[in-house]
Amino acid sequence: MAIDITRVGIIGAGQMGSGIAQVCAAAGLDVHLNDREAARIEAGLDVIDASLAKLVSKGSMDEAASREARNRIVPARTFADLGGCDLIIEAATENEATKREIFTALCSSLRPETLVATNTSSISITRLAAATDRPERFIGIHFMNPVPVMQLVELIRGIATEDATYESSKAFIAKLGKTSTMSEDFPAFIVNRILLPMINEAIYTLYEGVGSVESIDTAMRLGANHPMGPLQLADFIGLDTCLSVMQVLYDGLADSKYRPCPLLVKYVEAGWLGRKTKRGFYDYRGPTPVPTR
Ligand SMILES: NC(=O)c1ccc[n+]([C@@H]2O[C@H](COP(=O)([O-])OP(=O)(O)OC[C@H]3O[C@@H](n4cnc5c(N)ncnc54)[C@H](O)[C@@H]3O)[C@@H](O)[C@H]2O)c1
Repeated sequence: MAIDITRVGIIGAGQMGSGIAQVCAAAGLDVHLNDREAARIEAGLDVIDASLAKLVSKGSMDEAASREARNRIVPARTFADLGGCDLIIEAATENEATKREIFTALCSSLRPETLVATNTSSISITRLAAATDRPERFIGIHFMNPVPVMQLVELIRGIATEDATYESSKAFIAKLGKTSTMSEDFPAFIVNRILLPMINEAIYTLYEGVGSVESIDTAMRLGANHPMGPLQLADFIGLDTCLSVMQVLYDGLADSKYRPCPLLVKYVEAGWLGRKTKRGFYDYRGPTPVPTR
């Protein structure tokens, strides 16, 4: 039977986890926000405060609604604090071992009927489900970045996901005012299967000296009508996440066309992960972004 979701636990308070927390709270749900680092929860709450303040200043949300939404989000220091939730959404770093460790440690704190979801961009839902005690109540709920702005959420069923889990998740997404699509459980699902190889190709284009950062981004913005250039978008997503998705495509589909560009690997090895570390294909430390190549 489908369940009505009113209390949501979120694991990982980074750019995605904080965005998911905000939209859930704005839709009237209670949110418990967890991260392995307490400082990241605080930082996530600051991001939410700034985002809500922006909505109020633009007139898209009134002051009282913003305050109510913010008050619905509470920090969860341990997995035990997530025990009363109807749904857990894992939005931690895109690393399979990290996610498996979380699921293994999490499940004993949850009620049997609690649904568990992952926001992974690319990793097999069926494989992650196997790290839980409830593969039938496990699903991929893949939000897009930035969560408060983007309309789409991909739902991905693992091999064991029950219909009730899918229906509950679909109703939950509708409650958030967003649109869901259904994708089969293949590496990187639909959006990233198409988007990330395009970004990786843009990085090869830079690597081979076909164009500069500025030329490549301008070409795709004005020549293909993309709202953002692919290198700007890569910085926005996070270069570690981009690399991880390409690795999942390369390993999972065993086709050389998905080989991650060595320049992407180099940026990640340097710790230049894009906007979140203030440096990637652009340097964000000054008043305007400056290309790094
Ligand atoms: N960035 C995007 O554009 C985007 C879009 C859709 C989905 N995603 C997916 O969302 C997830 C999170 O991505 P992000 O961009 O928010 O990353 P991020 O680096 O901004 O945040 C990740 C957070 O996870 C926390 N974390 C790591 N290990 C943890 C653990 N064991 N327990 C609790 N917290 C832990 C980190 O401290 C960090 O705060 C990834 O799976 C990513 O693929 C990202």
